[in-house]
Amino acid sequence: MKGIILAGGAGSRLYPVSKVYSKQLTLIYDKPLIYFPLSILMLSNIREILIISNEETIPLYKKLFDDGSDYGIRIEYALQTAPNGIAESFIIGEDFIGNDGATLILGDNIFYGNLDFIYKAMAKNDGATIFGYRVNDPERYGIVEFDDKGKAISIEEKPAKPRSNFAVPGLYVYDNEVVNIAKNIKPSPRGELEITDVNNVYLNKGKLSVEKIGRGVAWLDTGTPESLLQASNFFGVIEDRQGLKVACIEEIAFNKGFIDQKKFESVLSKIPKSLYKTYLEKILKEH
Ligand code: TTP
Repeated sequence: MKGIILAGGAGSRLYPVSKVYSKQLTLIYDKPLIYFPLSILMLSNIREILIISNEETIPLYKKLFDDGSDYGIRIEYALQTAPNGIAESFIIGEDFIGNDGATLILGDNIFYGNLDFIYKAMAKNDGATIFGYRVNDPERYGIVEFDDKGKAISIEEKPAKPRSNFAVPGLYVYDNEVVNIAKNIKPSPRGELEITDVNNVYLNKGKLSVEKIGRGVAWLDTGTPESLLQASNFFGVIEDRQGLKVACIEEIAFNKGFIDQKKFESVLSKIPKSLYKTYLEKILKEH
Protein backbone atom coordinates (compact mmCIF):
# COMPACT_ATOMS: atom_id res chain seq x y z
CA MET A 1 0.00 0.00 0.00
CA LYS A 2 1.33 3.42 -1.01
CA GLY A 3 0.44 6.65 0.78
CA ILE A 4 -0.32 10.03 -0.74
CA ILE A 5 -0.62 13.33 1.09
CA LEU A 6 -2.33 16.02 -0.95
CA ALA A 7 -0.99 19.23 0.49
CA GLY A 8 -1.33 22.06 -2.00
CA GLY A 9 -4.58 23.92 -2.47
CA ALA A 10 -5.43 27.58 -2.41
CA GLY A 11 -6.11 27.97 1.30
CA SER A 12 -8.25 30.97 0.45
CA ARG A 13 -10.11 30.82 3.75
CA LEU A 14 -6.83 31.56 5.51
CA TYR A 15 -6.17 34.77 3.61
CA PRO A 16 -3.96 36.83 4.14
CA VAL A 17 -1.49 34.26 5.48
CA SER A 18 -2.22 32.03 2.47
CA LYS A 19 -0.80 34.75 0.22
CA VAL A 20 2.67 33.72 1.33
CA TYR A 21 2.34 30.50 3.26
CA SER A 22 0.83 27.07 2.90
CA LYS A 23 -2.00 26.02 5.18
CA GLN A 24 -0.33 22.66 5.85
CA LEU A 25 2.71 24.40 7.33
CA THR A 26 0.75 26.44 9.86
CA LEU A 27 1.37 25.53 13.45
CA ILE A 28 -0.99 23.22 15.29
CA TYR A 29 0.09 23.88 18.86
CA ASP A 30 3.74 22.80 18.53
CA LYS A 31 4.21 21.33 15.07
CA PRO A 32 3.26 21.92 11.44
CA LEU A 33 -0.17 20.69 10.42
CA ILE A 34 1.25 18.25 7.84
CA TYR A 35 2.87 16.20 10.66
CA PHE A 36 -0.61 14.97 11.57
CA PRO A 37 -1.57 13.31 8.26
CA LEU A 38 2.01 12.06 7.83
CA SER A 39 1.88 10.43 11.26
CA ILE A 40 -1.39 8.68 10.37
CA LEU A 41 0.26 7.06 7.35
CA MET A 42 3.30 6.06 9.41
CA LEU A 43 1.14 4.60 12.16
CA SER A 44 -0.58 2.57 9.43
CA ASN A 45 2.83 1.14 8.46
CA ILE A 46 2.87 2.94 5.13
CA ARG A 47 6.49 3.74 4.40
CA GLU A 48 6.35 4.90 0.79
CA ILE A 49 4.74 8.30 0.67
CA LEU A 50 4.14 10.87 -2.07
CA ILE A 51 3.56 14.48 -1.08
CA ILE A 52 1.72 16.40 -3.78
CA SER A 53 1.80 20.18 -3.64
CA ASN A 54 2.45 23.37 -5.55
CA GLU A 55 5.71 24.86 -6.82
CA GLU A 56 6.15 27.27 -3.89
CA THR A 57 5.55 24.73 -1.13
CA ILE A 58 7.36 21.59 -2.35
CA PRO A 59 10.81 23.07 -1.51
CA LEU A 60 9.57 23.77 2.04
CA TYR A 61 8.33 20.21 2.52
CA LYS A 62 11.68 18.97 1.19
CA LYS A 63 13.42 21.12 3.78
CA LEU A 64 11.22 19.60 6.49
CA PHE A 65 11.35 15.94 5.52
CA ASP A 66 14.04 15.54 2.83
CA ASP A 67 13.77 11.97 1.46
CA GLY A 68 12.16 10.69 4.68
CA SER A 69 15.18 8.61 5.71
CA ASP A 70 15.37 10.32 9.13
CA TYR A 71 12.01 8.70 9.81
CA GLY A 72 12.79 5.37 8.14
CA ILE A 73 10.38 6.06 5.29
CA ARG A 74 10.71 7.08 1.63
CA ILE A 75 9.15 10.39 0.68
CA GLU A 76 8.74 11.55 -2.91
CA TYR A 77 7.34 14.86 -4.08
CA ALA A 78 5.13 15.71 -7.05
CA LEU A 79 3.72 18.90 -8.48
CA GLN A 80 0.08 19.82 -8.83
CA THR A 81 0.16 22.86 -11.10
CA ALA A 82 -3.20 24.20 -9.84
CA PRO A 83 -5.82 23.04 -7.33
CA ASN A 84 -7.61 20.92 -9.93
CA GLY A 85 -9.30 18.68 -7.42
CA ILE A 86 -8.53 15.91 -4.97
CA ALA A 87 -8.98 13.10 -7.50
CA GLU A 88 -6.12 14.48 -9.59
CA SER A 89 -3.80 12.96 -6.98
CA PHE A 90 -4.13 9.55 -8.61
CA ILE A 91 -3.27 10.87 -12.07
CA ILE A 92 -0.25 12.77 -10.74
CA GLY A 93 0.69 9.77 -8.60
CA GLU A 94 0.19 7.08 -11.25
CA ASP A 95 3.87 6.07 -11.59
CA PHE A 96 4.42 6.27 -7.85
CA ILE A 97 1.40 4.02 -7.18
CA GLY A 98 2.49 1.44 -9.78
CA ASN A 99 0.58 -1.77 -9.18
CA ASP A 100 -0.22 -1.10 -5.52
CA GLY A 101 -3.23 0.18 -3.68
CA ALA A 102 -3.22 3.80 -2.52
CA THR A 103 -4.30 5.53 0.65
CA LEU A 104 -4.88 9.25 0.22
CA ILE A 105 -4.98 11.66 3.11
CA LEU A 106 -5.56 15.38 2.75
CA GLY A 107 -2.80 17.52 4.18
CA ASP A 108 -5.19 19.42 6.43
CA ASN A 109 -6.97 16.44 8.00
CA ILE A 110 -6.31 15.38 11.58
CA PHE A 111 -7.44 12.16 13.24
CA TYR A 112 -6.94 11.44 16.90
CA GLY A 113 -8.02 8.45 18.96
CA ASN A 114 -8.29 4.73 18.32
CA LEU A 115 -7.20 4.23 14.71
CA ASP A 116 -8.40 0.63 14.28
CA PHE A 117 -10.89 1.79 11.64
CA ILE A 118 -7.98 2.78 9.40
CA TYR A 119 -5.96 -0.38 9.99
CA LYS A 120 -8.95 -2.55 9.12
CA ALA A 121 -9.62 -0.69 5.88
CA MET A 122 -6.01 -1.00 4.82
CA ALA A 123 -5.91 -4.72 5.50
CA LYS A 124 -8.67 -5.26 2.93
CA ASN A 125 -7.07 -3.84 -0.23
CA ASP A 126 -10.07 -4.61 -2.44
CA GLY A 127 -12.39 -1.93 -3.78
CA ALA A 128 -12.53 1.33 -1.84
CA THR A 129 -13.08 2.20 1.78
CA ILE A 130 -14.09 5.66 2.88
CA PHE A 131 -15.43 6.77 6.21
CA GLY A 132 -18.44 8.52 7.64
CA TYR A 133 -18.07 10.91 10.57
CA ARG A 134 -20.96 12.67 12.25
CA VAL A 135 -20.73 16.47 12.01
CA ASN A 136 -22.89 19.37 12.99
CA ASP A 137 -22.54 21.26 9.70
CA PRO A 138 -23.04 18.70 6.90
CA GLU A 139 -23.51 21.35 4.17
CA ARG A 140 -19.74 21.89 4.13
CA TYR A 141 -18.74 18.32 3.24
CA GLY A 142 -19.30 15.31 1.01
CA ILE A 143 -22.24 13.58 2.70
CA VAL A 144 -23.13 9.88 2.74
CA GLU A 145 -26.69 8.63 2.84
CA PHE A 146 -27.27 5.20 4.42
CA ASP A 147 -30.25 2.85 3.98
CA ASP A 148 -32.06 1.12 6.88
CA LYS A 149 -29.41 -1.58 6.98
CA GLY A 150 -26.59 0.95 7.26
CA LYS A 151 -25.46 0.45 3.66
CA ALA A 152 -24.25 3.56 1.82
CA ILE A 153 -26.60 4.47 -1.03
CA SER A 154 -25.48 7.93 -2.11
CA ILE A 155 -22.71 10.48 -1.67
CA GLU A 156 -23.34 14.11 -2.43
CA GLU A 157 -20.75 16.90 -2.50
CA LYS A 158 -21.68 19.88 -0.28
CA PRO A 159 -25.45 19.32 -0.51
CA ALA A 160 -27.82 22.23 0.18
CA LYS A 161 -30.19 19.72 1.79
CA PRO A 162 -28.00 17.02 3.36
CA ARG A 163 -29.56 13.54 3.62
CA SER A 164 -27.55 12.68 6.72
CA ASN A 165 -25.06 14.18 9.16
CA PHE A 166 -22.29 11.82 8.06
CA ALA A 167 -19.45 13.63 6.33
CA VAL A 168 -16.69 11.90 4.39
CA PRO A 169 -13.31 12.78 5.96
CA GLY A 170 -10.21 13.35 3.84
CA LEU A 171 -8.89 9.81 4.19
CA TYR A 172 -9.56 7.31 1.43
CA VAL A 173 -8.28 3.76 0.95
CA TYR A 174 -8.32 2.42 -2.62
CA ASP A 175 -7.23 -0.57 -4.62
CA ASN A 176 -5.21 -0.04 -7.79
CA GLU A 177 -8.35 0.57 -9.91
CA VAL A 178 -8.44 4.13 -8.57
CA VAL A 179 -5.89 5.29 -11.13
CA ASN A 180 -8.08 4.26 -14.07
CA ILE A 181 -11.20 5.62 -12.44
CA ALA A 182 -9.59 9.01 -11.78
CA LYS A 183 -8.41 9.19 -15.38
CA ASN A 184 -11.93 8.67 -16.66
CA ILE A 185 -13.94 11.16 -14.63
CA LYS A 186 -14.68 14.64 -15.95
CA PRO A 187 -14.18 17.93 -14.09
CA SER A 188 -17.24 19.11 -12.17
CA PRO A 189 -19.01 22.43 -12.82
CA ARG A 190 -16.55 24.04 -10.37
CA GLY A 191 -13.73 22.76 -12.58
CA GLU A 192 -12.33 20.12 -10.19
CA LEU A 193 -11.79 16.38 -10.49
CA GLU A 194 -14.00 15.45 -7.57
CA ILE A 195 -13.15 12.65 -5.17
CA THR A 196 -16.90 12.18 -4.71
CA ASP A 197 -17.13 11.20 -8.40
CA VAL A 198 -14.41 8.58 -7.89
CA ASN A 199 -16.25 7.24 -4.86
CA ASN A 200 -19.52 7.13 -6.77
CA VAL A 201 -17.90 4.95 -9.46
CA TYR A 202 -16.92 2.46 -6.74
CA LEU A 203 -20.39 2.76 -5.20
CA ASN A 204 -22.12 1.99 -8.50
CA LYS A 205 -19.91 -1.08 -8.97
CA GLY A 206 -20.79 -2.32 -5.48
CA LYS A 207 -17.14 -1.90 -4.49
CA LEU A 208 -17.42 0.88 -1.94
CA SER A 209 -17.39 0.36 1.83
CA VAL A 210 -18.31 3.27 4.01
CA GLU A 211 -17.30 2.66 7.62
CA LYS A 212 -18.71 4.89 10.31
CA ILE A 213 -16.16 6.34 12.70
CA GLY A 214 -17.41 6.53 16.27
CA ARG A 215 -17.51 9.58 18.50
CA GLY A 216 -14.44 8.41 20.41
CA VAL A 217 -12.31 9.50 17.48
CA ALA A 218 -11.67 13.17 16.81
CA TRP A 219 -11.63 14.21 13.17
CA LEU A 220 -10.59 17.81 12.94
CA ASP A 221 -10.49 19.74 9.74
CA THR A 222 -8.39 22.84 9.70
CA GLY A 223 -9.46 25.02 6.81
CA THR A 224 -10.38 28.14 8.78
CA PRO A 225 -8.76 30.32 11.48
CA GLU A 226 -11.33 29.10 14.05
CA SER A 227 -10.69 25.43 13.33
CA LEU A 228 -6.91 25.94 13.49
CA LEU A 229 -7.26 27.54 16.90
CA GLN A 230 -9.57 24.75 18.09
CA ALA A 231 -7.10 22.09 16.94
CA SER A 232 -4.19 23.89 18.64
CA ASN A 233 -6.11 24.12 21.88
CA PHE A 234 -7.19 20.48 21.64
CA PHE A 235 -3.64 19.16 21.26
CA GLY A 236 -2.24 21.68 23.74
CA VAL A 237 -4.57 20.29 26.40
CA ILE A 238 -3.82 16.64 25.60
CA GLU A 239 -0.04 17.01 25.31
CA ASP A 240 0.17 19.06 28.47
CA ARG A 241 -1.94 16.59 30.44
CA GLN A 242 -0.12 13.44 29.32
CA GLY A 243 3.38 14.75 28.77
CA LEU A 244 3.28 12.91 25.47
CA LYS A 245 3.26 14.42 22.00
CA VAL A 246 0.73 13.65 19.30
CA ALA A 247 2.04 13.24 15.74
CA CYS A 248 5.72 13.38 16.73
CA ILE A 249 7.11 11.69 13.64
CA GLU A 250 10.57 11.01 15.09
CA GLU A 251 9.02 9.22 18.07
CA ILE A 252 6.66 7.22 15.84
CA ALA A 253 9.56 6.16 13.59
CA PHE A 254 11.56 5.01 16.63
CA ASN A 255 8.67 3.24 18.38
CA LYS A 256 7.68 1.41 15.22
CA GLY A 257 11.23 0.28 14.57
CA PHE A 258 11.49 2.22 11.29
CA ILE A 259 14.75 3.62 12.68
CA ASP A 260 17.10 2.08 15.24
CA GLN A 261 18.52 3.78 18.33
CA LYS A 262 21.69 4.85 16.54
CA LYS A 263 19.69 6.60 13.82
CA PHE A 264 17.37 8.15 16.39
CA GLU A 265 20.37 9.57 18.23
CA SER A 266 21.82 10.95 15.03
CA VAL A 267 18.47 12.57 14.15
CA LEU A 268 18.35 14.04 17.67
CA SER A 269 21.83 15.50 17.32
CA LYS A 270 20.65 17.61 14.36
CA ILE A 271 17.73 19.19 16.26
CA PRO A 272 18.43 22.59 17.85
CA LYS A 273 17.91 23.12 21.56
CA SER A 274 14.15 23.22 21.98
CA LEU A 275 11.27 21.70 23.92
CA TYR A 276 10.81 19.35 20.98
CA LYS A 277 14.38 18.08 21.44
CA THR A 278 13.97 17.76 25.21
CA TYR A 279 10.90 15.66 24.56
CA LEU A 280 12.74 13.32 22.19
CA GLU A 281 15.59 12.98 24.69
CA LYS A 282 13.03 11.90 27.27
CA ILE A 283 11.64 9.31 24.85
CA LEU A 284 15.16 7.95 24.29
CA LYS A 285 15.84 7.75 28.03
CA GLU A 286 12.58 5.92 28.73
CA HIS A 287 13.11 3.47 25.86
P1 TTP B 1 -9.75 22.40 0.62
O1 TTP B 1 -9.91 22.72 2.06
O2 TTP B 1 -10.92 21.90 -0.12
O3 TTP B 1 -9.21 23.66 -0.15
P2 TTP B 1 -8.02 24.63 0.18
O4 TTP B 1 -7.01 24.02 1.09
O5 TTP B 1 -7.50 25.11 -1.12
O6 TTP B 1 -8.68 25.81 1.03
P3 TTP B 1 -9.81 26.86 0.64
O7 TTP B 1 -11.06 26.08 0.46
O8 TTP B 1 -9.83 27.75 1.87
O9 TTP B 1 -9.36 27.62 -0.58
O10 TTP B 1 -8.57 21.34 0.45
C1 TTP B 1 -8.42 20.25 1.29
C2 TTP B 1 -6.99 19.78 1.28
O11 TTP B 1 -6.62 19.27 0.02
C3 TTP B 1 -5.97 20.85 1.60
O12 TTP B 1 -4.95 20.21 2.37
C4 TTP B 1 -5.46 21.29 0.26
C5 TTP B 1 -5.57 20.04 -0.56
N1 TTP B 1 -5.91 20.23 -1.98
C6 TTP B 1 -4.91 20.22 -2.91
O13 TTP B 1 -3.72 20.10 -2.58
N2 TTP B 1 -5.23 20.29 -4.23
C7 TTP B 1 -6.52 20.41 -4.65
O14 TTP B 1 -6.74 20.46 -5.87
C8 TTP B 1 -7.55 20.47 -3.66
C9 TTP B 1 -8.98 20.62 -4.07
C10 TTP B 1 -7.20 20.37 -2.35
